[in-house]
Order: sequence, then C-alpha cells, then structure tokens
Amino acid sequence: MRVIGLMSGTSYDAVEAAAADLVLRGDVLVMRPLGHLSVPYPGELRELIEGFLPPSETTARAVAVLDTGIGRAFADVAVRALRELCGGEADLVVSHGQTVYHWVEDGTVRGTLQLGQPAWIAEATGLPVVSDLRSRDVAAGGQGAPLVAMTDALALAALPGTPAALNLGGIANLTVVAPGAAPLAFDTGPANALMDAAVRHFTGGALGYDEDGRRAGAGRTDPALLRELLNDPYYRRPAPKSTGKELFHLPYLLQALDAAPVPEPDDVLATLARLTAVTVADACRAHGVTSLAVSGGGAHNPVLMGMLAEELPGVPLEASDALGLPSDAKEALAFALLGFLTVHGLPGAIPSGTGAHRAALLGSITPGRSPLRLPEPAAGPPRLLRVTGEPVW
Ligand SMILES: Nc1ncnc2c1ncn2[C@@H]1O[C@H](COP(=O)(O)OP(=O)(O)O)[C@@H](O)[C@H]1O
Ligand SMILES: [Mg+2]
Repeated sequence: MRVIGLMSGTSYDAVEAAAADLVLRGDVLVMRPLGHLSVPYPGELRELIEGFLPPSETTARAVAVLDTGIGRAFADVAVRALRELCGGEADLVVSHGQTVYHWVEDGTVRGTLQLGQPAWIAEATGLPVVSDLRSRDVAAGGQGAPLVAMTDALALAALPGTPAALNLGGIANLTVVAPGAAPLAFDTGPANALMDAAVRHFTGGALGYDEDGRRAGAGRTDPALLRELLNDPYYRRPAPKSTGKELFHLPYLLQALDAAPVPEPDDVLATLARLTAVTVADACRAHGVTSLAVSGGGAHNPVLMGMLAEELPGVPLEASDALGLPSDAKEALAFALLGFLTVHGLPGAIPSGTGAHRAALLGSITPGRSPLRLPEPAAGPPRLLRVTGEPVW
C-alpha cells in the first residue's frame, strides 16, 4: 500500500509530507520511503495560528477559518506529494493536522484538538484520508501522545542494549525500548518551544528561531534561571505524560524571567537550550538509555546537540537516519505508518506509552472519490519495522 503521511508539529513552521510503500510480511512491517517534502506554512496562516494558540482567547469563527485554512494547506501539500513523491499513484493519505489545543488537567488528558479539515485533502487528491488519530487514544484513557512511539518501538526493536528515539520538535519526546519490557514513551518537556518563543520576543517577531544555535552558542547558561525552570513539577511527574504549548509558551518564560532575571538575551537562549539538554538527559538516565537516535528540527541545532552530548557522556547520539528514517521525515512517515495500521484493523497506540487502558484503533476515515474499500484485516500486529530502499512488491 502506498501511503502519504502529513504532519505539522507544535512549532507550526511547515507542513511535512512523506510517502512510503508499506507491506506487512508476517510480523515484519516493511517500509520503503519514497521521499519527503517540507512546505512552510503560508505567512498569513502562520500568523493566524500564532494569534490563535494559548494563551489567546478565540472565537468559533477563528476555529472555522483555521480548520479550513490548515485543511487547504495540507491538501496543497498532499497534491504535491502525490505528484512529486508518488508518480501520481497512492492509496491513502494520513493527516495529523495541526494541534491547536492539548487539554491536560492534573496530568490527565481530557481532550486534544487537531485542525485541518480532511475533506479538503480527500477532495483535492481523490484519496481516502485517515485523520484525527489522537482522539481515540484519549477516549481509551490515554494521553493521545506520543504517537510516534509505535514507529520508534518497531524501528528500535532489533537494536542491542536499551535504545531510545528522541524527537526534538516544539516539544521533546522520547521512546525507550528496554529488553523484555513494554516500550515507554513520553514528552520530556520543551525542545524548541521556549527557544522559539524567546527569539520571537527578543527580535520583535522578526526571527522565528535561533538559526544553528548561534545566539545560544554566544551566551552562557544562567544557573538561577535554569534552577527556576527546572522547578516545574512536569519534569518530576512519572510517565505516561504529555505536554504542549498550553504550558510552555512566552508568558511562562517571562514569569520565570521575573523570578530569575537575566539581562542578556543570548544567555536566556543558552539557558533554554541547556534546559532541553538536561531534561532529556535526566529522562534518558532514569530509564537506562544506552543509545539515542535523534530527529526533528532541533537535530539541526549544533549547540543543542553539543549540550545533549555533554549531558549524556557515554551514550552515542546519532540521527534517526541511521535507522533508515530521515530525521526531517520521521514524524510524517510515522503517521503514514499509523494510517496503514488503521486501515488494516491494527491499533496504532502503545498503551505503555500513552497510558491508555487498551490499544485502540486510531483515527477517522474520510472516503476518497471512489467507494471506500479497506484491505483485509491483518492477521496480527507487526513486531519489527524493516526500512528498505528496494521495491517492496
Ligand atoms: N538550523 C536550525 N538551527 C536551529 N534550530 C532549528 C534549525 N532548523 C530547525 N530548527 C528548530 O526546529 C523547529 C522545527 O522543528 P520541527 O521538527 O518541525 O518541530 P515541530 O514538529 O514542532 O513542527 C524550529 O522551530 C526551530 O526551532
Ligand atoms: Mg515542524
């Protein structure tokens, strides 16, 4: 089955598309990635999303405008992916949409909202669309996150020791596969969310992120601010847990800066990069991680990666590319994989990761132009992901 995965993370910088051919052979899921596209959100849409996210108040009109705008942006990218990555032939589109609210109360996720109306994608491509993958896990008592854990767990299953996968998006999430134990997956805390908010704040909105970590690299970690930030109870809460920009946003940072003032913006950026490195390293140590495969935009920040290596001596770090999953495409591929599981009648969430009381089938299905035909249900779930450059059928 040829599947296109579409994703935009909490950084709402771009729509990522990745295509793959997938086939289940016994308990091995074979994946041939066909390439990926990263298409920045149109500036106007990005501003709309920015003005819409917490702590802003909003209106039903704004929800409708964004649901349509994001749906259309995803549809445009899906059409390009179909043409440019798939030679015009694909069976399914899987869309994560854009998270606009991840509703957490006392550590329990009560709801999660991804916008990006799938009707636009189905109409533009003629293909069936699997969307809204998180809600079903929430309904089964889970956090609805991290959903990339299924791909990580299958990709890491054959590795020695206690391997882990780390994605450094707006939020950092970690999947740990210890021998003989169910995979563990959780958000460790902010990856780029606070750094991006700080850069936007310090540059009056002119810049969106600290390119190549230049500003963090020019600054020095401020111990008092780092202590203040590390005081957040989120880091001490046991997994399963997930978080988002409802917590880690600019007002949160400004409040910490009130308590521990730091006059030099570059020092703030250095401290925020250190916060990410320390909280990821603490999580890795707590679970005995012996190797780490890193993906997401933060993997392009050499200062952040350098700090992570300092905080985790003896733990080899490499890009997820080493597992066959290109660092910038991993999340979109992960959603392609989840949609493949859904249409084959297989659960996509891992209860030991999301905390759900059972592994639910994920997503809602929007028919394409033809009557909806689903494949025969699979005999059993995959245990291993094999990524190949060769044709799979
Ligand atoms: N060259 C770079 N230098 C520093 N940071 C980078 C670089 N490239 C990407 N990033 C960071 O990665 C973020 C986007 O990462 P991404 O994986 O798309 O996150 P998300 O899944 O939250 O959208 C940007 O907002 C930025 O903070
Ligand atoms: Mg992104």
